[in-house]
Amino acid sequence: MNDQSSGPAADLTTDEKIALTGGQDFWHLHSFPDKGLPDVMVSDGPHGLRTQKGDSDMLGLNDSVEATCFPPAVGLSATWSPRTAGAVAAAIAEEARAEGVSVVLGPGMNIKRSPLCGRNFEYFSEDPHLAGEMAVGYVDGMQDAGVGTSIKHFALNNQETDRMRVDVEVDERTKQEIYLRAFRSVVTRSQPWTVMCSYNSVGGTLVSQNHHLLTEVLRDQWGFEGVVVSDWGAVVDRPASVAAGLDLQMPADTGAEQDLRDAVAAGDYDQGALDRAADRVAALILRSAENADPDAAYDRDEHHAVARDAARKAIVLLTNDGTLPLAPDADVAVVGDFAQTPRYQGAGSSHVIPTRLSSALDAIREATGTEVPFARGFVPGDKADSALVEEAVEVARNAGTVLVFLGLGEDVESEGYDRTDMELPAEQVALLQEIQKVNDRVVVLLSNGSAVRFPSALLDASAVLETWLLGQAGGEAVADVLFGAVTPSGKLAETVPLRLEDVPSFLHFPGEASRVQYGEGLFVGYRGFDARGLDVQFPFGYGLSYTTFDYSDLELSSDDDGIHVALTVANTGERAGREVVQAYVSVPGSKVARAPRELKGFAEVELEAGASERVELTLAHADLQYWSVALHGWAVEGGTYHVAVGASSRDLRLEGDVEVTGDETIPEVTGATTPLEIAEMPGGEEKLESFMSSIGLMADPEMRKMAEQIPIGRLTGIGNVSREDLAAFIDSLNQR
Ligand code: BGC
Repeated sequence: MNDQSSGPAADLTTDEKIALTGGQDFWHLHSFPDKGLPDVMVSDGPHGLRTQKGDSDMLGLNDSVEATCFPPAVGLSATWSPRTAGAVAAAIAEEARAEGVSVVLGPGMNIKRSPLCGRNFEYFSEDPHLAGEMAVGYVDGMQDAGVGTSIKHFALNNQETDRMRVDVEVDERTKQEIYLRAFRSVVTRSQPWTVMCSYNSVGGTLVSQNHHLLTEVLRDQWGFEGVVVSDWGAVVDRPASVAAGLDLQMPADTGAEQDLRDAVAAGDYDQGALDRAADRVAALILRSAENADPDAAYDRDEHHAVARDAARKAIVLLTNDGTLPLAPDADVAVVGDFAQTPRYQGAGSSHVIPTRLSSALDAIREATGTEVPFARGFVPGDKADSALVEEAVEVARNAGTVLVFLGLGEDVESEGYDRTDMELPAEQVALLQEIQKVNDRVVVLLSNGSAVRFPSALLDASAVLETWLLGQAGGEAVADVLFGAVTPSGKLAETVPLRLEDVPSFLHFPGEASRVQYGEGLFVGYRGFDARGLDVQFPFGYGLSYTTFDYSDLELSSDDDGIHVALTVANTGERAGREVVQAYVSVPGSKVARAPRELKGFAEVELEAGASERVELTLAHADLQYWSVALHGWAVEGGTYHVAVGASSRDLRLEGDVEVTGDETIPEVTGATTPLEIAEMPGGEEKLESFMSSIGLMADPEMRKMAEQIPIGRLTGIGNVSREDLAAFIDSLNQR
């Protein structure tokens, strides 16, 4: 904690400190140049800069400077490559410095609780481990380059419906293990310069006023040292927010500033909270100034290449009957508006004006060196147009292979609102069916920010590539994969279910009357599909390749750092390729509810045809922890852990068991403790035996079973135990 009297805001007057707790305008912090605190600018957004030098807004409607548009989180996470996230973030940092921006407002890292969330394109995964690793890669990449991040939206902001008011009801364990876990990884490992608090409320209190989240969890439990900034417009009561642990309200709000002045003047306001907030904001300004470089510049071509590399790794090959890759001289036709007018990023505050934009159509024409025929087929957001369909059918009829580009338009998927179903637009599916009537070599390329349901026409296609949203170099990346210059290697960061009704959160999303209950608990995404034994269209972690990989020689061991996994991966196919090796853990016989398997480690490995490599992973101690409701803290359960390693959550190639030493502290025994709990304590069984047999309760097995769940304090009545004997027994158990 800052020393209140000597922190970096120590020389400021109370009014100046109050000013520091809010923005100067939409994108700037307050500055006091004569006190050594210069102007600092922040800017959206996660997959490229949205720096507004003119009129400001938060929904991306007004102009911003040109910047490289990298793949949004939905694409980036499909790479399963924190290294790639780091390279993208480092490039964004260079652009930020060149534009005079000190903090980039990202990455977005909320858990994808439902495929319907309109903002899923801006989030990494349904799995907290993958989301956390990608975010750590991103934050390190950006901050190592001297630009701050703002991990967002903290916390439990998993839907757009009623996002400014909705109150989340979630149980303690689910909150920690699923929704806070990735934030915890980033805060404890990478110390982001800022954390952005979300709009919604949790447990009846707005996050922007939530002392538990902003102070107890973020600072006391995780040791966060940076600035808590509000999401734009998340604060309704600045004095209450600052008291709860918020440091900076954005954007400027002069009324709120006056409220804080009045509260301080009234005399009973916690001046320490104001001092701490001002110190932290002042420290952020100083750090920004140290890292600013008026001569910074960047190379647009280089950054476009970084965007292309990330996009190549993000494409997920979902099905392929051998049609792909295409020969460079293949006779192809292209259908679908998205081939010409790419859907390459999401709508809202993260919207970037790209430095250039490649369409898949242009890239395919370039790759083949021919004027490949093209028909639009549909206009996104419009009703079916029979003339467009007929034209597309004619183009498709005589082609060797038809490449059909389908997907979701911004009309159905955006920041600010949720989708109402998981369907591809009906007119696009109908178009695909018409094309399939005249040509049986049809490859479908999907552009969408979150999973769509697969109608039978999609399953009938010769191949399907899920391209998510790929940023400005997506067109080139698509051509690279189609014609085999690059072997596809993306993996699903979210399950593709058979039907929306199967999604674990289905019955509880998006709630009503400004309340949402996270009733599926821990069983979000694949955890829920696996626990209920449901079939899925494509499982979490899935993605095909043009080559094949063999897994062998699994070795497991464990120590204080966690579980060490080593295995050999060999590229047994004909092409170079990248494989993402995934390690899932289960704890058979665990005393707490657990999903059948949970991702706890992964690694990418690039192999030439015929090459092999020993891959080593550590499933870190912190990642093996579960949240103990009894202890209100993190703990590793001791026992046998089952580790399964494979190419997806449902393609597990190698399995083995390893003993893990637990680190659970034993809770204090009280009258509310049961014999069952005592039996699990070291030496407990023995003491219990002698105590219980002295009162005849362990005599026969049925009696024992019944007695096991009686809190021992109740035995004074039921078991006729004297208070003194009970107290002595409890004492003996607590002497450790
Ligand atoms: C979004 C944030 C964004 C901010 C500033 C808000 O509406 O939720 O993600 O950083 O606006 O544009």
